[in-house]
Amino acid sequence: MNKKTILAIDVGTGMIKVFVGRMQADGSVDILGSGAAPTVGYDRGAITDSNALTHSIRQAVDCVRMAADSQETGCVYLGISGSSLVMQNSIGSIAPITSGTVTVEDIERACKAATFAIADTDYEILHVFSTKESVVKPGAALEVEAHIISAPKVIVQGLTQALAETGLKLNGIVANGIVAAEAMRKELPEQLNNFIFMDIGAGTADVVIYVGGKLCSSASLPLGGDYITNDLMQGLSVNRVHAEEIKRYYSRLSPDLHNQGVVLDCNDYGTTDKHISFDFLYDIIESRVDEIVVLLYESVKPLLDKYLTVNGQTLECIYLTGGSGTMPSMGSCIAKVFQIHTETIKPAQLADEYAHSTNTVCYGIISHGAKISTGEPVAEGYSAWNVFIRKAKKLLKFDRC
Ligand SMILES: Nc1ncnc2c1ncn2[C@@H]1O[C@H](COP(=O)(O)OP(=O)(O)OP(=O)(O)O)[C@@H](O)[C@H]1O
Ligand SMILES: [Mg+2]
Repeated sequence: MNKKTILAIDVGTGMIKVFVGRMQADGSVDILGSGAAPTVGYDRGAITDSNALTHSIRQAVDCVRMAADSQETGCVYLGISGSSLVMQNSIGSIAPITSGTVTVEDIERACKAATFAIADTDYEILHVFSTKESVVKPGAALEVEAHIISAPKVIVQGLTQALAETGLKLNGIVANGIVAAEAMRKELPEQLNNFIFMDIGAGTADVVIYVGGKLCSSASLPLGGDYITNDLMQGLSVNRVHAEEIKRYYSRLSPDLHNQGVVLDCNDYGTTDKHISFDFLYDIIESRVDEIVVLLYESVKPLLDKYLTVNGQTLECIYLTGGSGTMPSMGSCIAKVFQIHTETIKPAQLADEYAHSTNTVCYGIISHGAKISTGEPVAEGYSAWNVFIRKAKKLLKFDRC
């Protein structure tokens, strides 16, 4: 039985969240514990203070070690998001091995050719997905359009270094939105073709677009709930923790309280003057939610036009997760602006203590790690290449867990 341990680290804008899990014989992962620590030294995909970041990671990892009552970390995967990630589509063209037939290996070679077409020595490729394969006519080349996600090498090296300083050896860096969407996709209705997965956190909104059931485009946008928290801090003259609490309190209330003259007792942290009208909170929060959603729409609409509308397809649903994605007003505003049904999702198959929308990314990272450990394909059309690289690395004694 495979008893490999996997450590998944989600470097979020607000919190570093960690899961440790043990792989089971069927390829699933049993979560042994979770840990978290406030993120310091890292802002939306950029390392601002590497010592502080190392300290934050160490705190979160110590926390998970205590929770799981184990020092074992096994394979370590770390996930990032933010606008420093580069998402692009590129075309790769090759001659199939056997004229007139397309094999998995041909698609993999074409994907590899697509990565060469955009190769940039300052960037490291994290994921490659084949989004569209052209029909091969006898004697013609095979053309594959691939969606490629890369990260600046300077960030990859900085994170690897920060982990090394905590005594951990990194096995892989992943894009948060991508691994979360791919893990959650298995929980979504099978017949779904055209849908969007959105993880809206404190500082970034990761958007992954599926067309015809295939991942075809993604984006990591600098939009999240921190804007709302900052507005509340200023508007109510409260500290950050207090503003966070008021935001969560407001989120639990019905919007029907609007225009009802309701006053809320928002006192905490030694304050006595925070009796605040619901309408005041409503105005601050809803206007910022509107603004975030309009910006999201303006960024996502061109991608939808390019990959969906142009082919006469229609969007079926937007799945929302992440701490801010599950705010009721975020969901209803997205439904209104995108004119589409929205649903909030979380890793519901995990034990209750882990099944929160803020843990969807950690679940995605650990699931990705498990796939790599079992040699399962991690990206359509690129699997054998990755498996080959892994086997080669293992033979050369690199990348050992
Ligand atoms: N119940 C809630 N109501 C409103 N907002 C919430 C709630 N729970 C969490 N949030 C908000 O969600 C954000 C944190 O979510 P999450 O943990 O997904 O972000 P992160 O991973 O740290 O950041 P990012 O993904 O943007 O890098 C914070 O802005 C927090 O205020
Ligand atoms: Mg996040």
